[in-house]
Amino acid sequence: MARPRARLRVGVLISGRGSNLQALIDAAADPTYPAEIVLVISNRPEAPGLAHAARAGIAHRTVAEPSRELFAREADAALRQSGAGLVALAGFMRILDSGFVEAWRDRLVNIHPSLLPAFPGLHPQRQALAAGVRFSGCTVHFVRVAVDTGPIIAQAVVPVHGDDDEARLAERILAAEHRLYPMAVRLFAEGRLRIRDGRVAVSGTAPPEIALLNPSEPLASAAG
Ligand code: GRF
Repeated sequence: MARPRARLRVGVLISGRGSNLQALIDAAADPTYPAEIVLVISNRPEAPGLAHAARAGIAHRTVAEPSRELFAREADAALRQSGAGLVALAGFMRILDSGFVEAWRDRLVNIHPSLLPAFPGLHPQRQALAAGVRFSGCTVHFVRVAVDTGPIIAQAVVPVHGDDDEARLAERILAAEHRLYPMAVRLFAEGRLRIRDGRVAVSGTAPPEIALLNPSEPLASAAG
């Protein structure tokens, strides 16, 4: 009988709530999922996400950041020691040292709550509402030194509702994030991603054959 392939070892960097971390932990609870979370690092000791790691029996630690370089050095050493083959940023709210980003190039991914390249940086949901877009969503991408740039792996689209405020839109996007991130990590772990000319080719998947309209066609009875 063929020996099952070893699961990809994943390190996760967080700063806060850790709901995306929890989504990855939940996905990896299935033994057929091709990745496992082996280390969680927070730059903030009070990050609630650390408790998710503790509950799941995953090694976790806080790495202080007296400077960007010192944080990077210590995080890098811990990640290497853990045998991580992928580092996933999940609500990690600091800009990473450029040496760290280069050292983990093409093995470092992030999730951002907008359809990049639209609305990078802080408060992307607020930016989406201010721009009046009808759809927003989330993006998983490989990390490059410039914030919220890098080859796009996967995106999920959600509608913006007329009565949305920032919190409601963020919540709808977050639900999509929790589906998207585990899927993107799976694609990486299965070796389906190739980066060419700054774009990611994904093998063995197909795009959905749909067009969404927002607003959708008005109901006849609502006219006039
Ligand atoms: C998410 O919206 C993520 O896209 C962004 O920060 C938020 C983190 O949420 N980068 P959580 O800590 O995963 O709950």
